[in-house]
Amino acid sequence: MAMDLKRTVTGIPELDAVLRGGLLCHRVHLIEGRPGTGKTTLGLRYLTKGAEMGETCLYLTLSESEEELRATADSHGWPLDGIRIEEIMPVPPDGMPPQTILLPTDSELSALVNRIADRVAEVDAQRVVIDSMVEVRLLARDSANYRRQIIELRRRLAELQATVLLLDDLTSDGREFELQSAVHAVITLEQREHSFGAARRRLRVVKLRGGDFQSGWHDYAIKTGEILVFPSLIAQEHHRDSQAYEIFSGVDSLDGLFGGALGGGSSTMVIGPSGVGKSTLALRYALSAVQAGHQVGYFTFDESEITLRSRLVQHMHEDEGAGRPRRFHLHRINPSRISPGEFIWNVRRLVEDQGVCLIIIDSINSYLDVIREEKSLLLQMNELFSYLSNMNVTAIIVGAHSADLDTSKEPDALSIITDNIISLRYYEQDNTVRKAISILKKRQGPHSHDIRALHLTDAGIEIGGRIGTPDAPPGEHPLDS
Ligand SMILES: Nc1ncnc2c1ncn2[C@@H]1O[C@H](COP(=O)(O)OP(=O)(O)O)[C@@H](O)[C@H]1O
Ligand SMILES: [Mg+2]
Repeated sequence: MAMDLKRTVTGIPELDAVLRGGLLCHRVHLIEGRPGTGKTTLGLRYLTKGAEMGETCLYLTLSESEEELRATADSHGWPLDGIRIEEIMPVPPDGMPPQTILLPTDSELSALVNRIADRVAEVDAQRVVIDSMVEVRLLARDSANYRRQIIELRRRLAELQATVLLLDDLTSDGREFELQSAVHAVITLEQREHSFGAARRRLRVVKLRGGDFQSGWHDYAIKTGEILVFPSLIAQEHHRDSQAYEIFSGVDSLDGLFGGALGGGSSTMVIGPSGVGKSTLALRYALSAVQAGHQVGYFTFDESEITLRSRLVQHMHEDEGAGRPRRFHLHRINPSRISPGEFIWNVRRLVEDQGVCLIIIDSINSYLDVIREEKSLLLQMNELFSYLSNMNVTAIIVGAHSADLDTSKEPDALSIITDNIISLRYYEQDNTVRKAISILKKRQGPHSHDIRALHLTDAGIEIGGRIGTPDAPPGEHPLDS
């Protein structure tokens, strides 16, 4: 039965997850994408995985030379032991003079298709990569003829029980659609250049005959030695029942102002202008969570921010102590080199592999600035927040903004979907610039409506008196919560 088709792994675990198990055994898969999207790299990875598992692997190259292929594999550190690489040049056999490309004949095309199938048969290959179909297509007189030959190739490869990747450059003449309909499965690779930063790559399973797969686009990256696929997040697929917990700030006066601790699984936006103390406040919660034995993940897009607050981070490490497992996971992210998919994947790894229960994103602006072109960003963030909440993970999102909250603009728009908002701002008094803190929103339970003075100290933060009244030193206005 079609639904029961056996699957085989690709060598990229997350791609297997998107494929809900892997490629279809003994079927023909089309991997299509423009030059440079990573088809050859994917093909090589697929075969090195096969060789690892002791399968017979064959790379038929019609475009690149064996030497070029070996160089690519080498650059990734992938051994090609046990993989046969054969160059097939699209010229007719038996010393017959090749027809010109302008006047290909049916027999030339079918001769090429036969030679491909014959090689697979002779080698008795279980895994086959054919790179690329462009050369085959060039021999086709018309599209009907091309399609007929591809179906013939598919038939012969199926008889031989090979699991095949056909690589195809999308050279926009509309013929890719014929190829799509003539194969069992199609994966499209796409690469987009952004105004700055690294190329952004994403892939999509277009079809997988008789099989389930995760639809939609998934970001991926080619790193030296591996291809990383970041399956898009579906919040409702995730759920974690964990014990109820709360995250205190470790500063009684702040907990008093907020009306208690941050509820486990809630999301809080900390907003305010640059330098006002948002990161310090977030780190203060992080430190107290670490001290309570929780795992904490801190994503920073601005490294200088965090080094400025190194004292708090230092406390964190002291508390972890030598030899004890790490509880504070600091991730420095270069926003110009990461896609939303990869970022969300990093968050997921901390949550699912490390059991992190507090995630801090500092700041969301640095991130938004770079991926502004993403229309679905708010949707993705919404999905991320729902995911964190389903997983009972507490989130603190730092957002820089200069004036009043304007929810028609990012990142303030995000505050609509967070449970709580803590606002930090500057004010002037007695010719001095001072800092103030207030709670703008809290979804559950009461909070103080005071605007209090905020003091940044070596140890973190302290809350002073109501502003407007002469500001006493911190600690002299104990809050009655
Ligand atoms: N050793 C490597 N480390 C990291 N990235 C690499 C490495 N080798 C190639 N790449 C990336 O892979 C891309 C080329 O992929 P390739 O498989 O040749 O594409 P295609 O076959 O679709 O034309 C290049 O754009 C390059 O960025
Ligand atoms: Mg290639």
